[in-house]
Amino acid sequence: MAHRFPEQERARLRDERRHRIQPAEEIMARMALRPGETVIDLGSGTGYLAVPMAHRTARVLALDAQRKMLETMRSTDPNVVNIFPVLAEIPPLPLTNASFDRAVFINVLHEINEKDLLVRELERTLKEGGRVSIVDFPRRETSSGPPVSERIGPEAVVELFKGFHVVGRWDLNEYYQLELEKDWAHRQ
Ligand SMILES: C[S@@+](CC[C@H](N)C(=O)[O-])C[C@H]1O[C@@H](n2cnc3c(N)ncnc32)[C@H](O)[C@@H]1O
Repeated sequence: MAHRFPEQERARLRDERRHRIQPAEEIMARMALRPGETVIDLGSGTGYLAVPMAHRTARVLALDAQRKMLETMRSTDPNVVNIFPVLAEIPPLPLTNASFDRAVFINVLHEINEKDLLVRELERTLKEGGRVSIVDFPRRETSSGPPVSERIGPEAVVELFKGFHVVGRWDLNEYYQLELEKDWAHRQ
């Protein structure tokens, strides 16, 4: 079983250090979000990325298995009305077929146990031309993050997402970012 980030430590997800080593603005610039899009933030935590993404897109569904994470997210920016928190253990995804444009995993994928089922669920629920953005820790020591043995590196992610192709990859000091697009040869 993968280790889950504890809700008692949730203040760390939005502290000054996090903003310095994993700047949300830079991550979103690489994602190239578009204003009309519907985004799902999987394992959204307290909304480190969900909240700023809501300022740039039509709506954000923020899914997390821990209630306190979502409650904290709601209290951080009450002016944002287009974030919809969903308490859910994923996979499966509690969504209808072809219902959103973007999925985002930031520091989350390594915590998911049923990764193959998750990828199948993304293929089912993403719209045509939909994208998945993955930010996670490399498989080497960094200044923070889970044990190296629990991490999933970019090569393994590309292997896992068989029905997708890579449209962008960045290998940085503390994290990597992958932008994947659904491959229509694998359409269901
Ligand atoms: C390290 S935190 C990252 C939170 C947020 N994405 C961020 O970058 O600040 C991982 C989050 O994923 C959530 N999570 C882990 N496994 C999950 C699962 N199977 N279903 C739903 N949420 C999950 C945890 O509850 C936690 O809030």
